[in-house]
Amino acid sequence: MASGKISLSMMCAGIVGIEKIIQKAESAGIEFLHIDIMDGSFVPNITLGTMFLSELRQLSKIPIDLHLLIQDPEKKLDWFGIQKGDRVAVHWESSRSILEAVTNIQAVGAQAVVALNPGTPVSVLDEVIGHLDGVLLMMTNPGFSGRKLIESCIPKVDHLRKYAAKRGRDDLEIEVDGNVSFSNAKRLKKQGADIFVAGSSSIFSGNDFLKLTQKLRTAVK
Ligand code: DX5
Ligand code: ZN
Repeated sequence: MASGKISLSMMCAGIVGIEKIIQKAESAGIEFLHIDIMDGSFVPNITLGTMFLSELRQLSKIPIDLHLLIQDPEKKLDWFGIQKGDRVAVHWESSRSILEAVTNIQAVGAQAVVALNPGTPVSVLDEVIGHLDGVLLMMTNPGFSGRKLIESCIPKVDHLRKYAAKRGRDDLEIEVDGNVSFSNAKRLKKQGADIFVAGSSSIFSGNDFLKLTQKLRTAVK
């Protein structure tokens, strides 16, 4: 099985020294920059926004992994300047027209991902799985970094892997987000996860960026 890919949580990177962090991410071969956009409505927090995203695009060529934790994402997609090569995750719980969001994301050549909160069953994907490039499974209730993984979310990855295979979607990329610590990453890799969001539980848990990245790489090999 292929090694896991790392998506670096920019919400955990802070602003001070961000250029240095991006340089290190580039030299460590980090596959994606994970941008959490929170609107204070779908989740009880406001984090990164459109200006941060467009400035980050100037600073780095690492592909963007956009996680939209916002209400009615299908009405707001053009705020984000989505480009070919981006991954864009919209939440099933916050969209009243999820397939419209998926189609519009793919229309610009980006990859469409549906995100599910811990309490949302995999079965809600019945009507959309054939259209998706990936699924993002939240391991914590979303809104804040530093939350504890909900144990039932670990076997949910294997469940989704089997559910997708049954529907001819072995190629579906599964991303896991929230409290992906080194030990949780190892367990999630065994369950069939492909992309691991690295935040305060792994790469930003100390000062040695390259060493901690290597440690996460080993966990998801
Ligand atoms: C939520 C975020 C957070 C966070 C991940 O969508 O993606 O889960 O940045 O970092 P930790 O490891 O703090 O949960
Ligand atoms: Zn996220």
